[in-house]
This record gives sequence, C-alpha cells and structure tokens, in this order.
Amino acid sequence: MVDGLILEDEQQQFLRRFLERLLARLLQQSEGANVLASLDGTRADTYSHHVHCLLQMTMVTKKRKSPDGKPTNDLVFSAYVGTNDEVFPFVLSLYVEPGSKIADVTYGKGVFWRKIPRDAYELLPSDIQSGVDCRKLPYMDKSIDCVVFDPPYMHTPGGTAHVNHQNYEGYYKNNSATSEKKYHEAVLDLYFTAAREAWRVLCNGGVYIVKCQDEVCANQQRLTHVELINKLSEYGFVTEDMFVVLRNGKPGVSRLLTQAHARKNHSFFLVFLKPNGRKRWTGLKNRLLVDTNGLGKPRSQPPTNEELPLFP
Ligand SMILES: C[S@@+](CC[C@H](N)C(=O)[O-])C[C@H]1O[C@@H](n2cnc3c(N)ncnc32)[C@H](O)[C@@H]1O
Repeated sequence: MVDGLILEDEQQQFLRRFLERLLARLLQQSEGANVLASLDGTRADTYSHHVHCLLQMTMVTKKRKSPDGKPTNDLVFSAYVGTNDEVFPFVLSLYVEPGSKIADVTYGKGVFWRKIPRDAYELLPSDIQSGVDCRKLPYMDKSIDCVVFDPPYMHTPGGTAHVNHQNYEGYYKNNSATSEKKYHEAVLDLYFTAAREAWRVLCNGGVYIVKCQDEVCANQQRLTHVELINKLSEYGFVTEDMFVVLRNGKPGVSRLLTQAHARKNHSFFLVFLKPNGRKRWTGLKNRLLVDTNGLGKPRSQPPTNEELPLFP
C-alpha cells in the first residue's frame, strides 16, 4: 500500500485470495452458494462458474517473471572451421577460469597459446623435447587445475606419408620414449598412460583437455576419440564436452587407386573432468573473454618480449 493506494500486483493478489476463498466456500456449502446466488437472482452453478472464470482471469493477468540472463547468440559452439589456435580459446573460456594453473604437457611450439592473453593463466609449459615426459610429470599430486595434452596422434603408414608434427614414429625414432606397442596401439598407449598421469596431478574438479584425431590404420577405421572416451571413463574421468575442428580447405592430394574411407579433415578437442564428488558441471562464474574479430575468430595476442621457458 502506498498512501492508501493498492498497487497493481497487490490488487491482483487480493482479488485472487478473495475469489479462491469464495469459491472454496461455494463448493463446500451449496447452501451458501444458493444464498449468494439468490442475491442477484443467478443460479448457484452459474455463480460458481463466473467465480471460476474470474479466478482464471486473475491468474492470466498475473505478471510473468522474465527469465534470468540476457538474450544472446554470442555462444561457444561445438564445431568450428579453422585452426587449433582459433578454437582453443573457446575451449578455455568455457572450462578454465582465468588465473588457473594450466600444465600444457606437449607444449611444442606453443601454437595453442597464440590467441590467449599471456597473463590470463598461470601456464606451465613442458615437452619431451625439453626433457619432460608427459607420463612422468614433475608436479605434486592434485596440484594442477587443468592439463592440456596434444601428442603426436598418427602412426606413419609406409614411412613418409603424413610425416608432420602429428606423426608418432617421428618423435620416437631415437627411442627417447619407448612403447612395446606399434602403430595405432602405440598412439593409444601414449594417450592412456598420459591420462593416468594427468589424473594424478589434477586437483579434484580439474579439467583435462585432450586433442586427438581419428585415423585409418592398416585399412581399419580407428575412432580414436571413441577409444579415448571409453578408456578415460574407466579411469574415472567424466566426458564433459567435445569440440570439432574442421580444417580450412582440402587436405593434400594422395596417390590412391581406390578410396576406401572418407579422408579425415577434422579433429577434436575432448574435455574431461576429474570429478569432484558427485557435483555436476554447472559452468564458470568467471570466464575468459575471447577477443574476436568481425568474423568471430579470436585475435592474435601481441607478442611479449618475455620468452616462455619450457620446463625444467
Ligand atoms: C602435435 S605436437 C604439439 C603441438 C602443440 N600443441 C603446439 O601448440 O605447438 C606434439 C608434441 O608432443 C611432444 N611429445 C611427444 N611425445 C611426448 C611425451 N612422451 N611427453 C611429452 N611430450 C611429448 C612432441 O615433442 C611435440 O612437441
């Protein structure tokens, strides 16, 4: 009430309560309904029908509460055409709070980080090239918020095809890190062993970001992302998300007589959580803001003079 005036909402509530009580009485006491009805010569059932209608009207006119949050289509999506460094910022923005401690255990040339502001996270880069094997990390148990893993994810059919930074055998020709397994099994072995180590160093609720690509090995379709999801679930990881990176343009021409399988032109960022009890993922309160250009692609960050030293 304001100075004797009843506000609109209060009026509606008042009317509603009054009508509810009146209807309850009418339904309970047909006697009473008859008395009321007789006042203006209406039949009792018509009277109660009118009351019903009025009641419904008060409900309809009741103001709807608008849902929380602001309408936007500025969202993170599950698939992007582009390169790893264009997609990685979106993965981080959804899953890793700024200021978190992130161990990129296959840092390589640091391509993933080209579009991430240098001071956004506490980055711990390491790689076998600087002497740190992702299967034996120099970190304490449960000390890291996020582990990023992007190993060589292809075997080398015939030695020279597909020889690039994703090629497994290329990295291990000097036996710097050995596996009893061969080809795709060796690729998987590295993923599985590294996942165990990531589990050890991740804190509860920590995020494990894994890059992978499916491959056809010895004419057999190997859906690496499925094999990883299955095995990591056995370890206790929860598969929280999957991003598809679709490459720009066509992959290089191969000499082949008959094409048997679709040529892979996509890869994945898989996002796993090391669960924190039974708590489900509900999103971050504080997110990395991805600075995008007019095409919605993250902008390159200005280079800093500071060299990022690879561990150790
Ligand atoms: C596909 S590249 C990673 C590229 C990287 N994400 C970037 O942004 O530049 C694979 C990397 O895994 C590293 N690597 C291979 N085996 C490893 C191991 N056992 N432990 C740590 N790093 C390894 C390689 O030295 C190479 O730098």
